[in-house]
Amino acid sequence: MCVILNMLSIHENYSLKAYNTFGVEAKARYFTTIKGMEELNELLQTNIFKTQKHLVLGGGSNILFTGNFDGLVIHNELKGIELTKFNDEEYILTAASGEIWHEVVMFALKNNLGGLENLSLIPGTVGASPIQNIGAYGVEIKDVFYALQMIELATGKLSTLHKDECEFGYRDSFFKKAGKNKYFILNVSYRLSTKPVLNTSYGAIEAELSKMNVKTNINSISQAVVNIRSSKLPNPKDLGNAGSFFKNPTISLEQYQQLKNDFPDLPGYPVNEHTIKTAAGYLIEKCHLKGFRLGNVGIHEKQALVIVNYGQASGKEIFDLSALVIAKVKQTFGIELEREVNIL
Ligand code: FAD
Ligand code: EPU
Repeated sequence: MCVILNMLSIHENYSLKAYNTFGVEAKARYFTTIKGMEELNELLQTNIFKTQKHLVLGGGSNILFTGNFDGLVIHNELKGIELTKFNDEEYILTAASGEIWHEVVMFALKNNLGGLENLSLIPGTVGASPIQNIGAYGVEIKDVFYALQMIELATGKLSTLHKDECEFGYRDSFFKKAGKNKYFILNVSYRLSTKPVLNTSYGAIEAELSKMNVKTNINSISQAVVNIRSSKLPNPKDLGNAGSFFKNPTISLEQYQQLKNDFPDLPGYPVNEHTIKTAAGYLIEKCHLKGFRLGNVGIHEKQALVIVNYGQASGKEIFDLSALVIAKVKQTFGIELEREVNIL
């Protein structure tokens, strides 16, 4: 069934299969797509909006539906990008939250603005970029984040959040804690530079740039990142996945040193004097799970952090495999992996 209002349509019992990159089947009790502020304002007045729980959905590339969603899914397609001059070298790029992230990165490059190039080819939308403080190849969104505008779903109240209010951490922010599922982010602003400090600290980028034999600039860094990512991360169009299923864990220096006795090549990146971040992909691989397949689901053969759907998997099968991985890593290393993907 479909309720047609003035500006928008609300569907009932709507399939979310095409709206999550795992490609799992799940139904939303109610589903609507928002393309402009008038539609959003109309939605806020409806009885369905006022009585149902909400899920704001971007590209569905960091979500696992383990069952139907008994509420209203608001699929975000708000569009628009604008640039304003900040000072002699910097611009503020403001993008509507339904813009596709990689297209915004390309827009910045075309305008000769640096800051987003290391984050090329991350799937999903602008609105999700602050949720887990997206990061890759030595850069996180917090490094260029300026502000965002959002409405509170319970009240419709509009507000602006600046960087220091977002509580950004590794794959973490205010929106994964006290602000979880409470706001609709409308747009996000990033502070970009015409004279950026280039970040090639991630070893794989340097190696790829020398292979490409080009000058290091924002365009070549972006291309290097695209090349590296394409060589190991599965394209959700070919194989359902949501990128890294787990976060890289932080352990004590003491535990790290103990583990090094048995696993001398265990990767470690100091967080502070007492703690070290290690690589979940390494731990999973050492448990002989890389390339492991269980019916419809498996661990990607080129990246052990990625769980894949071979076509017909249910959300529950994917979740169960993630529980098996957590148990095996805990048993082997005494480390409890945490899921990065949002489980619904
Ligand atoms: P969705 O999956 O739709 O939503 C994710 C969460 O954000 C949900 O809780 C949702 O409610 C919330 N949300 C979305 N939009 C809004 C909004 N407008 N307002 C309020 N809440 C909102 N992530 C990285 O950090 N680094 C990577 O390198 C990376 N690589 C990936 C590679 C692959 C192949 C894939 C499939 C995923 C990868 N990811 C990576 C994860 C994912 O791309 C990011 O988390 C991305 O930001 C999710 O965007 P989305 O629009 O698909 O969000
Ligand atoms: N590793 C293995 N086996 C594997 C995968 C990785 O041993 O199967 C080891 C590598 O040898 C390396 C270390 O783990 O020593 C790190 O590997 P990599 O550089 O591939 O990065 P990652 O830790 O696996 C993280 C992010 C990715 C991000 C890349 C690049 C998390 C959870 N994942 O992966 O983000 O793209 O770094 O910066 O932090 C995502 O969040 O969805 C995501 C894809």
